Amino acid sequence: MTAPRPRGAEGRGTLLRLMRGFRSDLLGALPERLYHAWMAEFRSPLIHSFFCNDPALLRIILQDRPADFPKSNRMREGLAPLLGNGVFISNGEDWARQRRIIDPAFEGGRVRESFAAILQAARAASDRLPAGRVDIEPHAAHAAADVIFRSLFSMPVEQGIAAQVFDAFRRHQEAQPLVNLAALLPLPRWMPRPHSRRTRATAGHIRGLIAEMVAERQRELDAGTAPDDLATKIMTTPDPQTGQRFTAPEMVDQVAVLFLAGHETSASVLAWALWLLAEHPEWQDRVAAEASLLSDDFASVSRLKATRAVFREALRLYPAVAMFAREAVTPQIFRDRAVPRGAQLVVSPWHLHRHQRLWDRPDEFDPARWDTPEGKTSARQAYLPFSAGPRACPGASLAMVEGVVMLAAITGAHRLRTTERRPEPVARLTIRAHDGIWLDLAPRS
Ligand code: HEM
Repeated sequence: MTAPRPRGAEGRGTLLRLMRGFRSDLLGALPERLYHAWMAEFRSPLIHSFFCNDPALLRIILQDRPADFPKSNRMREGLAPLLGNGVFISNGEDWARQRRIIDPAFEGGRVRESFAAILQAARAASDRLPAGRVDIEPHAAHAAADVIFRSLFSMPVEQGIAAQVFDAFRRHQEAQPLVNLAALLPLPRWMPRPHSRRTRATAGHIRGLIAEMVAERQRELDAGTAPDDLATKIMTTPDPQTGQRFTAPEMVDQVAVLFLAGHETSASVLAWALWLLAEHPEWQDRVAAEASLLSDDFASVSRLKATRAVFREALRLYPAVAMFAREAVTPQIFRDRAVPRGAQLVVSPWHLHRHQRLWDRPDEFDPARWDTPEGKTSARQAYLPFSAGPRACPGASLAMVEGVVMLAAITGAHRLRTTERRPEPVARLTIRAHDGIWLDLAPRS
C-alpha cells in the first residue's frame, strides 16, 4: 500500500498553478515532475530558484563546497525572532565557532548519556496515551519535547519553566508559521508573512523563559551541583580555537535552536511512523515483538532491527524537514544551466526520497528495503533526512535512538489501527497532517 502524498500539479502554467495551489499547501502545489526531474528552475523578477534532485549536485552543494553555498537568508525571516543568531540560521565563521562548541556534546558515543532520558520520556509517553480514537500529533509533540527537556536540562516537560516554554511555544506556532517555504519560490506577497508583532512578542516571551533556565543552570554550575546533561556539556565546553565559551545570550539562542530543531522534527516523524505501523499490521507485530528486547541497557537498542528499519523508512516517506535551501554566492553551471549569483538552491528530501528514478516503488512503505545491499547503496546518495556535510544535523544519532525507543515503547503497549480519516501531509516547519493523524488505540494484553 502506498504512503499518502498529494498529487503534484501537472502540465504548463505550473507557476500560475503553484501560486493558486499554495493556498492549500506547497506539497500539492509543486509540479509532479519534481518526482522525476534531476533539476527544475523557477523564476520570477523577484526570485530565481533551482530544485536540485541530482545526488551529484547535492554532493557539491552540501559536502564538497559548502562554503560556496551558505544557508539561504530567506529562511531566516520567520526564525530569527525566536532563534536569534543560533546555529540553525547563522553562517560563516559565526556558525563554525558555534558548531565547534556544540558538536562535542553530540559526538561519538555520547548519545548513550542521553539514553536514560529518552527511555523515561518514551515510557511516560506510552503511559499517557488513552485508549480509543486519538489525534496522535499532539501526543508526539509532547513526547518529543519531553525528550529534549530531559536530555538538555534533566527535567520533564511538565515541570516548572519547561512546561511554560512548551506552552508558549505552541502559542508561538499558532501565531504564525515559523518557516515561510514560500520565500524560496516565486510566490505572491499576499502569503501570510511570518513576522507579525504577535510573533515577535511570543518569541520574546519564550526567550525570556529560556534565559531563566540558562541563568539557573549557571548558578548550579557555579555551586558545583549541575547535572551532567547536554546543557552542562555545551555551557562548559570552550571553543578549542579561542578558548571562549558561549555567553548567556548566545546560550539562549542555542537552547531555542535545540528545542525547536530537536522536538518539532522528531514529533513529526514519530506521528507518521505510528500511522504507518497502523496501516501495516505485519510490521506493527514485528515492532511489538521486538519491544520486549528493550531494557534499561543502552545496548538493547541495537537489537531492535525491524524497529530501526521502520523508523528509517518513515524518515524516507515523511522526512520531517520537507525542504531546506542554500544560496549560490558565485555564478555556477549546474547540469549545463547557468545558476546566477544569489539563486536559491532548494534541497527537497520530500521529493528526493520519493524520486522515481532513484527508488524502487518510491511511494511504498517497505522497511525491508533497508536490508538489501542495493537498498543501502541507493539510499546513501538519495537519502538526506538529516542533510549531509558539515551542516548536517548534529542531533541525528540522538534522533535515531529516540525514534526507535519511542516506537518500541508505544507499539509494545498499544495496538494501533487506522481510522477512515486518511492523513493528508502538508509542509509546515515540518511535515504535518492537514487535519491531524487519527488512530484507534487499544491496550495490548
Ligand atoms: C528525526 C529528527 C530530526 C530530523 C529529521 C532532523 C533534520 C535536520 C535537517 C534536515 C537539518 C538541516 C537543515 C538545513 O540545513 O536547513 C537539521 C539541522 C539541525 N538539527 Fe536536526 N533533525 C532531527 C532531530 C534533531 C535533534 C534531536 C536535534 C538536537 C537535539 C537537532 C538539532 C539540529 C541542529 C542544531 C541543526 C542545525 C545544524 C546547522 O545548521 O549547523 N535535530 N536537522
